[in-house]
Amino acid sequence: MTDSYQGSAVLVTGAASGIGRATAKRFAAGGARLCCFDIDEAGAETTAAAIREQGGDAFSCCGDVSSEVDTKATVSAALERFGQLDVLANVAGIGHFRHTEEESAEEWNRILGVNLTGAFLMARDAIPALLDTRGVIVNVASVAGLSAHPYAAAYGASKGGVVLLTKTLALEYASRGLRVNAVCPSGVVTPILDQFTRPDEAEESLFMRIVAPNCNLIEPEEIACAIEFLASPEMPNMTGAIVVVDGGVTV
Ligand SMILES: NC(=O)c1ccc[n+]([C@@H]2O[C@H](COP(=O)([O-])OP(=O)(O)OC[C@H]3O[C@@H](n4cnc5c(N)ncnc54)[C@H](O)[C@@H]3O)[C@@H](O)[C@H]2O)c1
Repeated sequence: MTDSYQGSAVLVTGAASGIGRATAKRFAAGGARLCCFDIDEAGAETTAAAIREQGGDAFSCCGDVSSEVDTKATVSAALERFGQLDVLANVAGIGHFRHTEEESAEEWNRILGVNLTGAFLMARDAIPALLDTRGVIVNVASVAGLSAHPYAAAYGASKGGVVLLTKTLALEYASRGLRVNAVCPSGVVTPILDQFTRPDEAEESLFMRIVAPNCNLIEPEEIACAIEFLASPEMPNMTGAIVVVDGGVTV
């Protein structure tokens, strides 16, 4: 890791835990100033405090990515503090396995609201500032957004949406210097896995589709590394890229 982000300002959603926390720490190690945004106030502050303890510049912001009030306020807070925004990492997410006939409209809307609308709102509100810096958006999608996962209609639809949101924004803003990329991980060892308990009477054989041939679970730091690569100023022509980190699940 170099100091390629010295002077940059980075906003990470989902920064209280897992991939978001590892991402915030990775950018901070590269010299970036961090806005750590999460619905989990204490967790986001723990991440920001850990960065400050290492000599970095970070603050936490509490809010819900599916709320326009919160996304606007967070972007404003980052701009007020840093005067610029160079990278938006949309990492916040939720999900679960459900038999589709048992999925409530409320649960469906919540998953779509956080994973897809949340990524859209953050992008929409950050784009004016990112255009000023010829910045980058990196979205965290999932292999569930590329091929079917069992009992994951809402999660898969939301992540498939994130993949196409990424490509669409990449096309729309390419000529104005804003890049938009996404990473699609398979299973990463983070607390979100606890949300994915197998439903009763699930067809076990369907889960074989999502087991990596190398049988590894991924560490969140590896996904943070991919996010940092996709944001890197050394990759000015990388936009619209959907990078799969999955131990071979989708080959
Ligand atoms: N862990 C995996 O196996 C895996 C695989 C593929 C993709 N992903 C994606 O990676 C991203 C990060 O997940 P993770 O694995 O680090 O899980 P995690 O549960 O450790 O972190 C998710 C974070 O998002 C925050 N969050 C949830 N709802 C929010 C909201 N409405 N507003 C703001 N913050 C909110 C949570 O508080 C938490 O800090 C998610 O988008 C997830 O879908 C994870």
